Amino acid sequence: MSDLENPILEVRDLSVDFKVRGGLFRAVDNVNFSIQAGETFGLVGESGSGKTTIGRAIVRINETSSGDILFKGRKINGKIPRELDREVVQKIQMIFQDPMASLNERAKIDYIVSEGLYAVQGFKGEAERLSMVRKTLLEVGLLPEFASRFPHEFSGGQRQRIGIARALVMSPELIVADEPISALDVSIRAQVLNLLSSLRQTKGLSLMFIAHDLSVVRFITDRIAVIRLGRIVELGRTEDLFQKPLHPYTRALLSAVPYPDPKREKGRKSKPYDPSCHDYSVHSPAWTEALPSHFVLGNSAEIEDWTRS
Ligand SMILES: Nc1ncnc2c1ncn2[C@@H]1O[C@H](COP(=O)(O)OP(=O)(O)OP(=O)(O)O)[C@@H](O)[C@H]1O
Ligand SMILES: [Mg+2]
Repeated sequence: MSDLENPILEVRDLSVDFKVRGGLFRAVDNVNFSIQAGETFGLVGESGSGKTTIGRAIVRINETSSGDILFKGRKINGKIPRELDREVVQKIQMIFQDPMASLNERAKIDYIVSEGLYAVQGFKGEAERLSMVRKTLLEVGLLPEFASRFPHEFSGGQRQRIGIARALVMSPELIVADEPISALDVSIRAQVLNLLSSLRQTKGLSLMFIAHDLSVVRFITDRIAVIRLGRIVELGRTEDLFQKPLHPYTRALLSAVPYPDPKREKGRKSKPYDPSCHDYSVHSPAWTEALPSHFVLGNSAEIEDWTRS
């Protein structure tokens, strides 16, 4: 069913419900997307739209309510064999949003970076483990000697590099990076972004990059999915999405992206999204390939309208 030749990850009709007082809350609602091997895929949406929940479902932290998640063609959500679980734990790694909160303050960097290795017994002896840690620290731009230090000795950017090392040491095939730069100083965001981008290239990884706003993912992603209130409203190649955004929500997000040119920026008008612009009383919206490899959630009348203009 995937439209990709060599998908590493396929998410099909995925829903995730949370138990809340008085019933269930659907945080992820019928979500569909695939990630091509070697691709950088962006998942963009406002706070509370379900991005982290999707990431956590992929790495098996969150249970799913319905739908399938496939890793290299094999279903990895729900009950799966132990061997496969171990493989997923190793091959799909997540990098977390807040490097100040996500590192265990009482553990040395050596232990923090090795935690996943211990869990899957991913090394033969102490010497091998230590050399893996030191090599990985170098790969993320840190000194191997840092292994014997504690997190509080590091800056936000360095801590996020430690977070990246912790993922990288597992030799993952897919990294889910959950807003990895949004908690960082503006001045060091680009460095961490470039590091992720170059690691993806040199290691031949696939990367799912979660972000709040489109400008962050513009230059590093191949394709972008835009999510709102648990539903993906649009998905397409990055250039296509920027050139010809279809869904009014995507257009609103784009209107909030600042121009680098101050003159143009001065005249920029951001257009808020008004959900009442849709009339779904007769025809409900459906996930549709409106243009080649460019999907949108809408009914046929509005899709005709969006693709024409
Ligand atoms: N364990 C939970 N129990 C109940 N509700 C939850 C739980 N985890 C998340 N939610 C709710 O699910 C929705 C999606 O949350 P999620 O963290 O996935 O959003 P997000 O897009 O990552 O937001 P942010 O950009 O702020 O990180 C939110 O309404 C959130 O309150
Ligand atoms: Mg989140």
